[in-house]
Amino acid sequence: MSEYSQLIRLSADYSIKPFDCGNADLNEFLFQDAVEHAKELLAMTYLLEGKNCTKAYFSVLNDSVRRLDADSIKSFKRKLLHDIPHKKRSYHSYPAVKIGRFAVHKDFHNKNFGRKMLDHIKGFFLDNNKAGCRFITIDSYCDSVGFYLKNGFDFLSEKDKTEDTRLMYFDMKAIIPDKSAL
Ligand SMILES: CC(C)(COP(=O)(O)OP(=O)(O)OC[C@H]1O[C@@H](n2cnc3c(N)ncnc32)[C@H](O)[C@@H]1OP(=O)(O)O)[C@@H](O)C(=O)NCCC(=O)NCCS
Repeated sequence: MSEYSQLIRLSADYSIKPFDCGNADLNEFLFQDAVEHAKELLAMTYLLEGKNCTKAYFSVLNDSVRRLDADSIKSFKRKLLHDIPHKKRSYHSYPAVKIGRFAVHKDFHNKNFGRKMLDHIKGFFLDNNKAGCRFITIDSYCDSVGFYLKNGFDFLSEKDKTEDTRLMYFDMKAIIPDKSAL
């Protein structure tokens, strides 16, 4: 991230620089709701600051992937069967972090900012992690599904196929360099 600018955790007294990602709900969340969410410990927001504007932001919160949510998806079932040791396959849920909001300023779309931010989030919850976090989840707008697929995410359910958003996941195990190192 340093090649672009500074990543800042949003605090109550922080003056947010101008931001427009082209989506009114995501713009509004940043300016009107993000601080309240932080105060209530519901979601923490991080800003990628440029000199004159906010280049991008994301907010994150703890989550879990329930086996029930994923039961209709064959690829996820296969993952449970092959990747997760036998005794742990019967857990009802698996630890995760949800990306609650994710947006790049429209002036910076298609310049790899989104990909770099996702990579940052993956590292954020893997490096020296204080708690187990196997998956990253997102409720993706249908328009953005292709972006998450390109970044290693997959669908968690088929039940939301006709909805406005799709529940997607990324398996953190995929990016542990040496899986025997932990
Ligand atoms: C969706 C969004 C975050 C993508 O960020 P971005 O910085 O423009 O994306 P990147 O430049 O990092 O793109 C990485 C790859 O994803 C592709 N991509 C980007 N947006 C895409 C989309 N909406 N659908 C399909 N593919 C997309 C790019 O073409 C690129 O592919 P490549 O590796 O083949 O070149 C950004 O467009 C945005 O903020 N949109 C408005 C808010 C929003 O919809 N947020 C998502 C909420 S779920």
